Amino acid sequence: MKQPRPRSLTASPLAGNRSIQRRAFLEKVGAGALAAAMAGGWAERNLAAEAAGGGKPWQPVSDRKVRVGIVGYGVCRFGADFGFQNHPNVEVVAVSDLFADRRDGLMKACRCGKAYESLEVLVKDPKIEAVFVATDAPSHARHCMEALRHGKHVMTAVPATWGSIEQGEELLETVKKTGLKYMMAETSCYHAACHAMRQIYRAGGFGRLVYSEGEYFHYSTTPIGSYKNWRAGSPPLWYPTHSTAYYVGVTGHRFTSVSCAGFRGKFDASQPGIDQYQNPFTDEFALFQTSEGGVSRMCMSKSVQGHVDETGRVYGERGSMEGLRYTGAMETLPDLGRPPLPPGVPEGGHGGSHGLLMHEFISSILENREPLVNIYAALSMTVPGIVAHQSALKDGETLKIPQYRAPAA
Ligand SMILES: NC(=O)c1ccc[n+]([C@@H]2O[C@H](COP(=O)([O-])OP(=O)(O)OC[C@H]3O[C@@H](n4cnc5c(N)ncnc54)[C@H](O)[C@@H]3O)[C@@H](O)[C@H]2O)c1
Repeated sequence: MKQPRPRSLTASPLAGNRSIQRRAFLEKVGAGALAAAMAGGWAERNLAAEAAGGGKPWQPVSDRKVRVGIVGYGVCRFGADFGFQNHPNVEVVAVSDLFADRRDGLMKACRCGKAYESLEVLVKDPKIEAVFVATDAPSHARHCMEALRHGKHVMTAVPATWGSIEQGEELLETVKKTGLKYMMAETSCYHAACHAMRQIYRAGGFGRLVYSEGEYFHYSTTPIGSYKNWRAGSPPLWYPTHSTAYYVGVTGHRFTSVSCAGFRGKFDASQPGIDQYQNPFTDEFALFQTSEGGVSRMCMSKSVQGHVDETGRVYGERGSMEGLRYTGAMETLPDLGRPPLPPGVPEGGHGGSHGLLMHEFISSILENREPLVNIYAALSMTVPGIVAHQSALKDGETLKIPQYRAPAA
């Protein structure tokens, strides 16, 4: 992590004598020792080796196969990309997409012999017990509710709900009523760094987070296609979860209020489709208050030339971390390796998160427990972005954020 540099040691109007003195001082003590002294004696530690894990083998918990249906093979080919077809505890019973060529592609990619013309038909198949919803974002909540009401567990691509808090809460009621598993496949949650931050946070290596940042930059020279053009001109922070995972997915805590500002870029906002959202912004930067009493800056940005990144950093009372570099008071860190995958299951895309998300969902069914990103976590990563966009439309007015918490066990 970049060390914060005291004002007196940064480029100063008093350069000259002072900079010569500084150079001499640095040469004498060494830059690393100085950084450690400035951080209160704790040197920065690179945790790449710890995060790579000790190669623990996967241990099966059951020999049963969960019977899965997979829906959606659009621009991102997401239906086949999480490796359900490679998991020893999964049988892919059927797939679906509205387009025949995509259905064929998905059947082939999942080595599955059966396809239905829509999700609405697929969920009527009594053999299927769990559905992966990889459809367009505006349909996620509705599709998940359709699957749940037909008695199926669901894993959904992000976000949980598209711009509608009401629909998100209807989804929450449906999950509660059915008692089935619901998981949002937020990819940042299983980035090596975010996973390691979560373990260190839980073990007390950060204390309360004073400040955190999460960001999703996605510049593209051409607009990314989508079913019914849902991406064109969409409010940036309606798609907040790659960023918000770097607070909610690390701490389990919540955002309580927000003030947000938007940038009116030319790109994307000028594409056809803008009118469907009445959204003027291509980029949004939100400042949240957190339930720990801290502050968090989260953004979704499409206009920064050439910049594509999904990352975050955390700063706590006992330590801080960016990427896999930790500086802090905790000497013996917990196990930081990500869970092992069954043989033949690829880690997949987005920082090797796809396979882990799918494995977590299947494991939650086999072990009859809550998955990592359950409905409460999913809404707590998604809804704050919707409120942030409302704030940006009101020139940054501070708005309260609804709270979603699992009932105490
Ligand atoms: N890092 C990430 O987590 C990440 C990255 C990329 C995409 N995504 C998410 O993945 C999802 C899919 O992305 P995409 O770019 O492929 O979307 P897309 O809009 O290109 O494709 C959606 C597909 O869903 C199908 N569909 C819609 N309604 C259906 C129905 N009722 N029955 C059957 N099929 C139906 C459409 O025919 C289409 O092929 C999106 O929600 C997106 O937000 C997440």
